Amino acid sequence: MATHKILLLPGDGIGPEVAGEVSKVLAWFTRAGIARFETETDLVGGAAIDAHGVPLSEAAMDRAKAADAVLFGAVGGPKWAGVPYAKRPEAGLLRLRKDLGLFANLRPAICYPALAEASALKRELVEGLDIVIVRELTGGVYFGEPKEIVTLEDGQKRAVDTQVYTTGEIERIAAVAFDLARKRRNKVASAEKHNVMKTGVLWKETVTKLHAEQYSDVGLEHVLADNCAMQLVRNPKQYDVLVTDNLFGDILSDVAAMLTGSLGMLPSASLGAIENGTRRALYEPVHGSAPDIAGQNLANPIAMIGSLAMALRYSFGLLEAADQLEAAITRTLAAGTRTRDIAGPGTNAVGTTEMGDAIVRELQAQG
Ligand code: NAI
Ligand code: MG
Repeated sequence: MATHKILLLPGDGIGPEVAGEVSKVLAWFTRAGIARFETETDLVGGAAIDAHGVPLSEAAMDRAKAADAVLFGAVGGPKWAGVPYAKRPEAGLLRLRKDLGLFANLRPAICYPALAEASALKRELVEGLDIVIVRELTGGVYFGEPKEIVTLEDGQKRAVDTQVYTTGEIERIAAVAFDLARKRRNKVASAEKHNVMKTGVLWKETVTKLHAEQYSDVGLEHVLADNCAMQLVRNPKQYDVLVTDNLFGDILSDVAAMLTGSLGMLPSASLGAIENGTRRALYEPVHGSAPDIAGQNLANPIAMIGSLAMALRYSFGLLEAADQLEAAITRTLAAGTRTRDIAGPGTNAVGTTEMGDAIVRELQAQG
């Protein structure tokens, strides 16, 4: 049995609490003889600033590069609000993204039947929803040059952001989406605005060409990003994998998130280049360190445990184990177990550790 090397970076606030529940799940898979993990733990964010004066030590960065996958909790909090910008807790995450070359951000929007009432939409529109937004993460208008504010001769100011994409950047993100679709319902929708943007024209052209040459077995649809936003609210279940650029992906993934309920439920993956046969990858909940509830056993660990399920599927090739874990989460919710963030008014809520224990019990029950 292969040993999968994991670097666990719990971070700050509720990060260590939800990471603790992931450790329980990893231990269960090992005990059950389903997989073998070698897990190292290190500091990131404020915790690393307190210990080493930097948000990510060189040793931790080296360990991240040597791992098959990084599991990241959350960073930040009021304690480090005064730290200089370049050394703030978030810089630890940005360094990991940059040095691991994580250009593809995968944000699933899954609506568990037991939680369909929590959605912003009607139950029938979202019940059983399972889509993934693949967002380009390292290019586009957030990074393109020139990027500046200049003062004009007449005293006005003029701000410029530049959207830049190369065919290489578009091809690699589209390939991630097509590969992902093959492991799912084999359908990709690509969102851009070729009607008003040159980057949209190149995006559509490049995706179309790659599809014809290498992925003609996968269904492909092009959709204008603004129409896509409408479709996500009108009939989200029409999609399977949705691929788009950095800016549209930022917005569309937040729209999709609201279809599914609490921040405490949303996992994510960030994937990088393939090196020596493995793809660099970091898995993390979408939420932050939630200082308002930290240290009180109130955090919902499902976003973090769901991020582990993504690691099992996309980094370790343990598809069955991933299905098992997601099924255990579904059954735990169906049984009525709720942390406070997803409990309706007047409903009893359990704590972080109880939710983790309940999921492990469901794993055990299904064998
Ligand atoms: P947040 O995601 O930490 O919290 C927003 C709200 O959602 C809070 O009311 C929180 O209690 C709740 N919440 C979040 N996760 C939850 C969970 N698992 N279970 C139950 N409730 C949950 O975002 P916020 O408050 O804007 O930021 C707090 C800190 O986290 C800041 O320092 C921010 O910079 C940092 N942050 C870090 C991120 C990361 O590490 N990737 C991402 C977003 C924010
Ligand atoms: Mg956003």
